[in-house]
Amino acid sequence: MEKSKILVIEDDGGIRTQMKWALNNEYDVLLAENTEEAIKLLTRFSPPLVTLDLGLPPDPEGTDEGFRLLQEILKMSPFTKVIIVTGNPEKEAPLRAVSMGAHDFFEKPINLEELKAVVKRANYVQGLEKKNKELLVQLKTESNRDIIGSSREMHEIFTAIRKVSTTDVPVLVTGESGTGKELVARAIHLQSRLGNGPFIPINCGAIPEKLMESELFGHEKGAYTGAHVQRKGKLELADNGTVFLDEIGDLPLPLQVKLLRVLQDHKLERVGGREMIDLDVRFLAATNKDPEELVRNGMFREDLYYRLAVVTIKTPALRERGEDILVLAKYFLKKHGGANEKIRKLGEDAVQAMKKYSWPGNVRELENKIQRAIAFAEGRQISASDLGLPASTDEFSLNLKKAKERLEMEYIKMALVKCDGNISHASKEMGLTRPTLHGLMKKYDITTKEMQNVDTEA
Ligand SMILES: Nc1ncnc2c1ncn2[C@@H]1O[C@H](COP(=O)(O)OP(=O)(O)OP(=O)(O)O)[C@@H](O)[C@H]1O
Ligand SMILES: [Mg+2]
Repeated sequence: MEKSKILVIEDDGGIRTQMKWALNNEYDVLLAENTEEAIKLLTRFSPPLVTLDLGLPPDPEGTDEGFRLLQEILKMSPFTKVIIVTGNPEKEAPLRAVSMGAHDFFEKPINLEELKAVVKRANYVQGLEKKNKELLVQLKTESNRDIIGSSREMHEIFTAIRKVSTTDVPVLVTGESGTGKELVARAIHLQSRLGNGPFIPINCGAIPEKLMESELFGHEKGAYTGAHVQRKGKLELADNGTVFLDEIGDLPLPLQVKLLRVLQDHKLERVGGREMIDLDVRFLAATNKDPEELVRNGMFREDLYYRLAVVTIKTPALRERGEDILVLAKYFLKKHGGANEKIRKLGEDAVQAMKKYSWPGNVRELENKIQRAIAFAEGRQISASDLGLPASTDEFSLNLKKAKERLEMEYIKMALVKCDGNISHASKEMGLTRPTLHGLMKKYDITTKEMQNVDTEA
């Protein structure tokens, strides 16, 4: 394993050498005798570990220069573990350093064993933090990867997500039902500075108007009959995170007024409450209707619309996404196919049927149809009818041989289903020998097991 780098900042040449010898075996030791050298090495190597003597020139007897450098190091690389070395008998200095962000401290004269132990501990903690950070990044990118799509339209969406994630501005996501509006909202949240905080979706249409106010804002004990205990609302639960207002056009107008105030003031008041509560919340909203039409119809207050729609992202309908239909279909096939099941392929007729279909329920409908097809498909291939889609109308352009083959395959499947997968019975029924039926089943990739389980309605 590669040794961790440690930068020793120490103006006393003797102590410097002593420390180098103590640490040389286990660490890659860099030495600096003043601020200037230290900054150069920090910039060049970003060492994860630093020991810092607080008494540095031009103030070797005091601590001013040391504190200035400590601040600089923490600014340059906040994850570096800084161990303070102090010769100053004044007790406050090391404690002040730790409260500023130093990791640990110890006092001169240096005890080499103690030095090694302190550095080892710092290195251990640094390693854990680094690993933790890597895992978090990995988690985030994995949840982003869940948004599948390689069309130009989806690339524009990815770019938009990335751009708005670095800001706190409200975003309104519009698009037909099932196009991934909530997925986009979650991605923005995860990539934002509030990504480790809560993501609270609120379906504005699903809750009765009477309960909605308390649901959003919470209430104090005794605010109304039945309010036996104090309760936090969803907006408050989203503090230090993101609130996702789904179907914003369904929010009753009086609550839209109250919500607008929260957006403006970053404060809220519980129902029946007397104090304002500070909120640090990112607002995302969505609607599957045309927001401007909602405004025209008086369902969506114009002032709230302008507040929420600082940025608008429109998720494209699936039928407008070209090859994405197939990309997504394959993704769902893999996702729902299960590891121990045979991987099924999409038959040519299924591909054609999917391309022609209008997908009113968009990605959600595609995922459902693929799940259905996995349950219904008899062979390794998924057909248009497995998907519940009308088979392609170009059937007549097939040549006679293909048409005969298709008929043959359907006929064999029917016979097998009828005989509950029993090959002897089925071959008798069709007037074939067993080996002939076996041969045909192999040709069309039909297995008896699937015939037994098949739902004859399908
Ligand atoms: N690009 C995509 N990649 C993978 N899965 C997707 C994609 N878009 C949507 N989905 C999936 O489709 C389903 C519907 O997505 P989502 O709930 O985000 O849609 P919506 O636009 O919010 O729909 P609605 O308007 O009905 O609320 C979810 O299961 C989601 O994971
Ligand atoms: Mg939704």
